[in-house]
Amino acid sequence: MKIYRATDYQDMSRKAANIISAQIIMKPDCVLGLATGSTPIGIYKQLVEWYKKGDLDFSEVVSVNLDEYRGLPKTNDQSYDYFMRQHLFDLVNIDPANTYLPNGMAEDSEEECLRYERLIQSLGGVDLQLLGMGHNGHIGFNEPGEAFDTMTHCVKLQERTIEANKRFFASADDVPRQAYTMGIGTIMRARKILLVVSGEEKAETLRKALCGPVTPEVPASILQMHNDVTLVGDEAALSWMA
Ligand code: GLP
Repeated sequence: MKIYRATDYQDMSRKAANIISAQIIMKPDCVLGLATGSTPIGIYKQLVEWYKKGDLDFSEVVSVNLDEYRGLPKTNDQSYDYFMRQHLFDLVNIDPANTYLPNGMAEDSEEECLRYERLIQSLGGVDLQLLGMGHNGHIGFNEPGEAFDTMTHCVKLQERTIEANKRFFASADDVPRQAYTMGIGTIMRARKILLVVSGEEKAETLRKALCGPVTPEVPASILQMHNDVTLVGDEAALSWMA
């Protein structure tokens, strides 16, 4: 695992955006696995800036997102579909037809999971998967205890995740109880993984994920088993590392 220490959130965002840019420049028609949450916002902002300067071209890029709430239409401003359009897709020259997320409104959840997994395969797999990490070590919406070999599936969100995500909703009651997520098996198939972590409150979980046993109790710990992971963390998240 390559580890880049960033001085702060902005520096972390710029370093991570550099890695994504390099991927796009080296392979203009790459498949990017994208993530939501507050951590990647600075990365998207930086990518948009470079696109506007003429340094980046998304015209051939394909994207697949990690996850989506079940039950929220794309028009809901808390859906991940909306988030991606707001922070990236509407601001760069990516072809909207090349941007994919699970469909939160699909009637048959099992069918939707199969469709999404097949779609990722038909695109040739993910070249670079961007990942944030939840406070409990979750990646995508793969909560502690989730088996490591799962493919895209529908999960019941844990109370801690609902609590953490309620800041974006009017109240905790409005946070959907289920979500679609690429499974850990799906994530591990990505050719490269870029993990970004910021903030002191995630430092201890990050330490467990990187140095502790590989266990479903800390979903991000599985990344120790992937052969091409880059972590960009800020000082606060990496404070425990000498
Ligand atoms: C959500 C997302 C994850 C994300 C996590 C951390 O639960 N499903 O993909 O990594 O939150 O979010 P944040 O970056 O806001 O801490």
